[in-house]
Amino acid sequence: MVASTTTGEGWSSRTAFILAAVGAAVGLGNIWRFPTLAGESGGGAFVIVYIACVFLLGLPLVLAEIFIGRAGQTDAVGSIRKVAAQSKAGPGWAIFGAIGAIAAFLILSFYSVVAGWVLYYAGVLGADFLQAIGQGDPFRGALQGESQAMIQGRLSDMFASVPLLLVMHLAFMGLTVFIIARGVHSGIEKAATYLMPIFFVLLVGLVIYGAIEGDIGEAFAFLFTPDWSKLTPAVINSALGQALFSLSLGVAGLITYGSYIKEGSGLGGTSAMIALADTGVALLAGLMIFPIVFAVGLDPAAGPTLVFQTLPFAFQTMPGGALIGFLFFTLILVAAVTSSISLLEVPTAWGIGEMGWSRAKSALIFGVGAFVIGIFCLLGYNVLSDVRPLGFWPLFADTDILDTVDGFTGKVMLPIGALLTSIFVGWIADRNLVRATTGVSPPMFALWRVLIAWLCPIAVAAILVTGLFPSIL
Ligand code: PFF
Repeated sequence: MVASTTTGEGWSSRTAFILAAVGAAVGLGNIWRFPTLAGESGGGAFVIVYIACVFLLGLPLVLAEIFIGRAGQTDAVGSIRKVAAQSKAGPGWAIFGAIGAIAAFLILSFYSVVAGWVLYYAGVLGADFLQAIGQGDPFRGALQGESQAMIQGRLSDMFASVPLLLVMHLAFMGLTVFIIARGVHSGIEKAATYLMPIFFVLLVGLVIYGAIEGDIGEAFAFLFTPDWSKLTPAVINSALGQALFSLSLGVAGLITYGSYIKEGSGLGGTSAMIALADTGVALLAGLMIFPIVFAVGLDPAAGPTLVFQTLPFAFQTMPGGALIGFLFFTLILVAAVTSSISLLEVPTAWGIGEMGWSRAKSALIFGVGAFVIGIFCLLGYNVLSDVRPLGFWPLFADTDILDTVDGFTGKVMLPIGALLTSIFVGWIADRNLVRATTGVSPPMFALWRVLIAWLCPIAVAAILVTGLFPSIL
């Protein structure tokens, strides 16, 4: 058996890899960002374009990234360089591995801040549930006696408290660094194998709860009835960005995880499982959240605060709301951990493979760096609320620090990473190497080649350009 990376680490089984990769894919993107975007973009039309992006563009790219890692057997930059050398191409292609590692590092900085909010809400609802037990009424609604304004005010109170935001951000980032410092086998794999089953049980339980107590019919209609008049280039752009973000594409995350696959091929089936699981979870998250939103007559287009301001209010009026609210935020937290570790793993592997650092040192350096950038993101909600980092750019003219880092990585860096990945695998990588490494059978291989070499570059480039410069349309 060959050592899988410069550090000799690897997954102990195919199941372990799938759990870790699904864990990376399923995160805040599915449970917070997807329902937010679907709600803001009018539901059905966005959802259909999103699903098309996942399967026509995302799935081929998942396979492409895993291929690079599996063939390269080291960090993203080193893996691309190796595949390029085997394909008689120059080492310059490794640049998209570096762009990916920087993007992953930047995403981690704000991801940990948002996960910190989730941690706080899990704490608030957990304390409320304990109180409900103490009162001998464990199945009461959440946050009894608080008006809607008070519940919504909790979010602005939290944003106003820098120490609170810092402590939550630090706790979450600390946990992420701790897991990554322990390594692929004892850190990432263990976290995924314990947390993913818990996640699925919670998710299914909450969807059933929503179906019984909420208005599932209206949620279905909202998510699956398209109103094509809502389909603008900006909506298509955000659907593609969301597909890339949700599948963890364009940041070299799957190159890195793919490099820990020691043996075996059949990467096509594995990729399909990752894409199906991720999309299934996003749709289930919609079917968990919107029945509750509609049952209480709230606005599905509330935006990023939907999960934080709208749902706790809904939990107040619903039976068992105290318990359900606590479980809901625990669910999001679990999903966030298995994703944040994959974000930190990309630069960490780079530090190990390219700089020769120890794993602990590399994880700490990038964890602290992302923590510091995250501090600026969270200050954007209070003392730095007037700062517009890319204010000169019309697209980001009125965007605060966190949303700028989110928007710039999601709208610019991920599509560029995805574009370069598709060109590299579609046109540069040696075809025999690709065929042998992926193990995809001939008819499917031909179809995949068309998608990765033609559809992905053209569609991603078109959506990137029209999204960034809407005035050209
Ligand atoms: N896919 C994650 C989510 O949907 O929350 C976010 C993410 C994780 C993006 C890991 C990129 C990545 F490398």
